[in-house]
Amino acid sequence: MASKEKGGQHQEDAKTAASTVAPAKGKLGVMVVGMGAVATTMIAGVEAVRRGLAKPIGSLTQMGTIRLGKRTEGNSPLIKDFVPLANLNDIVFTGWDIFEDNVYEAAAHAEVLKKDTLDQLKPYLETIKPMPAVFDRYYVKRLNGTHVKKGNNKRDLAEQLIADIQAFKKTVDRVVMIWCGSTEIFMEPTEVHQTIEAFERGLEKSDLGIAPSQIYAYAALKEGIPFANGAPNLTVDVPAMIELSKKNSAPICGKDFKTGQTFMKTVLAPAFKARMIGVKGWFSTNILGNRDGEVLDEPQSFKTKEESKLGSLEYIFQPELYPDLYNEIYHKIRINYYPPRGDEKEAWDNIDIFGWLGYPMQLKVNFLCRDSILAAPIALDLVLFLDLAKRTPELRSIGIQEWLSFYLKSPQTPPGLYPEHDLFIQSMKLKNTLRHIMGAGLVTHLGLDYYD
Ligand SMILES: NC(=O)c1ccc[n+]([C@@H]2O[C@H](COP(=O)([O-])OP(=O)(O)OC[C@H]3O[C@@H](n4cnc5c(N)ncnc54)[C@H](O)[C@@H]3O)[C@@H](O)[C@H]2O)c1
Repeated sequence: MASKEKGGQHQEDAKTAASTVAPAKGKLGVMVVGMGAVATTMIAGVEAVRRGLAKPIGSLTQMGTIRLGKRTEGNSPLIKDFVPLANLNDIVFTGWDIFEDNVYEAAAHAEVLKKDTLDQLKPYLETIKPMPAVFDRYYVKRLNGTHVKKGNNKRDLAEQLIADIQAFKKTVDRVVMIWCGSTEIFMEPTEVHQTIEAFERGLEKSDLGIAPSQIYAYAALKEGIPFANGAPNLTVDVPAMIELSKKNSAPICGKDFKTGQTFMKTVLAPAFKARMIGVKGWFSTNILGNRDGEVLDEPQSFKTKEESKLGSLEYIFQPELYPDLYNEIYHKIRINYYPPRGDEKEAWDNIDIFGWLGYPMQLKVNFLCRDSILAAPIALDLVLFLDLAKRTPELRSIGIQEWLSFYLKSPQTPPGLYPEHDLFIQSMKLKNTLRHIMGAGLVTHLGLDYYD
């Protein structure tokens, strides 16, 4: 087939797909696991935006535009006007935590948002009270909560979560689950994670390889609900969960919100590579004083985070293709728990680079960020886009939504496919996926036709 015809066929297929993306009718229920700093900042923020008290800065779904057609056409609608996303007014929040605090109390404890902001939202925030959690200190050693479910085994606990989901489903039209809970100890896939059957047998036997985050994810996927993972935990990054996600048309994506330091890494590293600038060393350190920082102070939880943070440079630099530039990078990451700083994390990066004829140079990045202020819009966007994926026939049964890698430190891919970490490639992939499902032409940035 000639390429023009092929393109035409592609457009036709895409148009058919667009006509079948279901509208976002009714209420979207969002089940949040872990109502700490990120979760409460997201929930309070959504309410503040709904009341017109603030703008959803940092949220692509709320503020981003998407170019359609040629540059000369001047057609760049808002993403939320182009794809059928749930309206913020239609979102209903619920969730679980190991502490009984309602969202107002938890947000006050997290000390991310100012007291006046929270007080304006207090009557609403107080109505959201977490359900008892599935928790085990073996997997998060620094926490000890009492608001937890009791069960005979892990299957029993999964069934209790399924009952929570089913009860919530009766009050809304669609549901998405997002893990905003703590970072669990480092775990690697074992036999129990290989198939759905092995996993279910493992639940029955309370296999040590099944962490609480996996019990929640299992409950969600079993109920056909999309699941996002804001932490670096293993959770759905195993064959059994991918299989369940596909089988029950419950979309999943990678893990660990890409917020501060890694966000910057996936911007700077592609820039060095694009200009063939070499890198010898990259030293990254952080001070952080919130509860997340306290959990990450524990070596086994830190190891989970470290693995997630380390991956990006290796994949972006492709040392196998550029041995002269990136073969000997010394990459070191430190996170230091420093209580006085609270959620206002400070990150330092020292980057040793080299240029023409090997002459050395340095770049220092000092990012004074607010962890949860960066994470909250990412959590919101993931929820809205996963709900869109669930309503899109072409996406709902493929399991991993690689187009959402844009938001995550550890993108998930099928076996054999390397993850794409470059923020700009990820952004292009996300927008082209939206164009594709809506039947619009893809933007390739070739642009030769402007010179015809
Ligand atoms: N803030 C960021 O920029 C950022 C970026 C990337 C990833 N993350 C990850 O997101 C997660 C949340 O971060 P945070 O700053 O909100 O932490 P946080 O400690 O304030 O909140 C986590 C909450 O999860 C609860 N929890 C722990 N285990 C649970 C379980 N099994 N069931 C229910 N609740 C449980 C805790 O009680 C706590 O309230 C962490 O894993 C963190 O590493 C955060």
